[in-house]
Amino acid sequence: MASSKLPDLKSLGGAVEDGGGGKSKAKGWPGFVHFFFVLSVVLCVIFYSPRLFALTSTYGLDFFVQPPPDTSSRVVGQDDIAAAGGGGGGDVGDVVVLDNQLHSPCSSLPGDTICCDRSDFNTDVCFMAGDVRLDPASLSLLLFPQQRPAANATVEERIRPYTRKWERFIMSRIEEVRLRMARPEEAPDHRCDVRHDAPLLVMTAGGYTGNLFHAFSDGFVPAWLTVQHLRRRVVLGVLSYNPWWAGTYSEIISGLSDYHVVDLLHDKRTHCFTGAIVGTRFHGILAVEPTRLRDNKTIVDFHNLLADVYENREDSVPQKQQELQQPAVAWRPSLGIVSRRGTRVIENQAAMLQLARSVGFDVDIHETANGMPLSAAYASLSACDVLVGVHGADLTKFLFLHPGAALVQIAPLGVPPIAHGCYAAASARMGLHYEQYDARGHESSLVRKYGLKDAVVSDPERAKRDKGWDFVARVYLGGQNVTLDLARFSETLSRMHARAVRVRSLQRLPQSHVSP
Ligand SMILES: *[C@@H]1O[C@H](CO)[C@@H](O)[C@H](O)[C@H]1NC(C)=O
Ligand SMILES: *[C@@H]1O[C@H](CO)[C@@H](O)[C@H](O)[C@H]1NC(C)=O
Ligand SMILES: *[C@@H]1O[C@H](CO)[C@@H](O)[C@H](O)[C@H]1NC(C)=O
Repeated sequence: MASSKLPDLKSLGGAVEDGGGGKSKAKGWPGFVHFFFVLSVVLCVIFYSPRLFALTSTYGLDFFVQPPPDTSSRVVGQDDIAAAGGGGGGDVGDVVVLDNQLHSPCSSLPGDTICCDRSDFNTDVCFMAGDVRLDPASLSLLLFPQQRPAANATVEERIRPYTRKWERFIMSRIEEVRLRMARPEEAPDHRCDVRHDAPLLVMTAGGYTGNLFHAFSDGFVPAWLTVQHLRRRVVLGVLSYNPWWAGTYSEIISGLSDYHVVDLLHDKRTHCFTGAIVGTRFHGILAVEPTRLRDNKTIVDFHNLLADVYENREDSVPQKQQELQQPAVAWRPSLGIVSRRGTRVIENQAAMLQLARSVGFDVDIHETANGMPLSAAYASLSACDVLVGVHGADLTKFLFLHPGAALVQIAPLGVPPIAHGCYAAASARMGLHYEQYDARGHESSLVRKYGLKDAVVSDPERAKRDKGWDFVARVYLGGQNVTLDLARFSETLSRMHARAVRVRSLQRLPQSHVSP
């Protein structure tokens, strides 16, 4: 935990597979796959420095019951993009506010300027308002001002658009984009081949995107909270663009933008925009902080985007109402089990499944890395009342659960702090009930190798001390399975079952308020 050092990739060998649904779909992209799936070894937090945890805010679930934010202000993507200085999210008339973040140095951006906010620990983000043209040859965005810029105006900025600014290794693999104030005489060399009546968002499909946790925590959640206020009137310009990314996340991509994605490294045309945002904001691990946004959006709004893009609401809503009319006795809560392969496997999964049925659940197994499209995963997970799984990137799919459902994360020996850091606060903010089941010595496969008395098993926190990240990755994450103590785990399951039944009965009451 204390180490933000990179894992020793060689020592992890083939033991590592945390790529979620992407893995098998990625066939045919060997180089790409190798790069990501070796890197994505891990999990989330490994790469997170302790400082990040200190920054992660905690707030209650109060926001969950707030009335939906006022969405009446109209956003129009006119040519003369400028920011409304007033803040507060009022009616902004016919101007587009590029920076939706409160208290940002760029939140009142006049036209014809370049503004970068480098104040955040995790990410830099730059904004350009005005006549912006892409120069693919130099990976630059040129701003052609209508009038002579002020003498002190920013002339050039460089930025690597990724949300792990503090991690030198991965940032060196993100292309650097230049933002430059152009001279009027350069205009003939940069005639627009494609004109977009919208601003551009530059983001990357690279970094650790091959891992589902990172795809959301470093990629889509930040991108969404940076541009959601534009209501899809934004063009995505993507670095490290590749068909795997575009295919795996196609629904989410079309939920972010109404336009075709621009492949920044391969498209040789001069695309022109009404402005640009380069890089994304970052609010924490899978977090959207309403107090930092003009329109108070939350991670629940991000979940709603997923629901919009994955659900055919007209079909599913009447079906749900029908279910609600059935007598309560007939209803069995649905339990999803995330089933990993290779590492962090539940060795007695069959017995656990039987136990869950006997407790009263309908059980649905979700195998990781089975090539199932995310839309199918959404369909089955959004119907779950409880999701159970051993720590891994696939638990990021808690974002698919309906608010009010529960997440039970099983943490093998040595993994509880990492497990907690990844999903505890994030799932609670989404209105989920979170529980963590920390495996004990006798439930770990490490007993077979080390015995019960070795510190590796009897005191993992001590064993980890001074050993660094490599050790954690190899022994605890890459070399461990669990065999659940069914007597102990049945207590967790029974509690989750009783809760699901209670939540359900509250939902059946007219106009009830279910508190998770
Ligand atoms: C956001 O929340 C603040 C504080 O609760 C409130 O004053 C403001 O009107 C809200 N803004 C929107 C757009 O809902
Ligand atoms: C440039 O100078 C003007 C006038 O002195 C000042 O108002 C403005 O804030 C300055 N802008 C920057 C980017 O320093
Ligand atoms: C964990 O289980 C998997 C699948 O059964 C197996 O391939 C692997 O060798 C096991 N790992 C350990 C450390 O026992």
